[in-house]
Amino acid sequence: MSATDILREDHRQIHRLDKIIVRCHTELSAGRDIPLNDITRIVRVLEEFLDTIHYSREEDSYFPCVASYDHLRREIRVLLIEHEFSRRVAAQLRKHLRRWHDGEDAREPVARYLRTYSIYLSDHMKKEEEFFDRAEAETLSREEEYEMYEQFRSVMATSKKLDEMLAEIGYLESRPWAR
Ligand SMILES: [Fe+2]
Ligand SMILES: [Fe+2]
Repeated sequence: MSATDILREDHRQIHRLDKIIVRCHTELSAGRDIPLNDITRIVRVLEEFLDTIHYSREEDSYFPCVASYDHLRREIRVLLIEHEFSRRVAAQLRKHLRRWHDGEDAREPVARYLRTYSIYLSDHMKKEEEFFDRAEAETLSREEEYEMYEQFRSVMATSKKLDEMLAEIGYLESRPWAR
């Protein structure tokens, strides 16, 4: 296993989440109800799995390591801008969910931002997987791959967060509306 493989594995889990998001916004747009609590749990996974765990692996370790070769810098800048975009979309989702929770009808913006998020995810991950292939083939040494892999694993070992997040994805997949 290498650091790049760990990021690819994160993406496999994020693809599972993307399917849930698509179900969710499709159902909402068709006027069917989904428990607000379930939608809130989706947004929590966006914040705590994507942002806190996965983006931090990319932004704090992987991208800087690739950039240290003075290679693929333009590609990295684009990927970072896209991360910022997704953070803004997640913040909008939070805001409208809170309004909905407080009794206003926020079905339309919630469905719309979920759809936006899903489009971002497909596009970003496709781009990034091509980036991983290039970083792996053109820059990262075996030692660097191994060092970052160990670092990702040691953070994982001290935190139950990743397991908790994967369990959340499993829970959401099991919900009647998501099947
Ligand atoms: Fe990314
Ligand atoms: Fe990624």
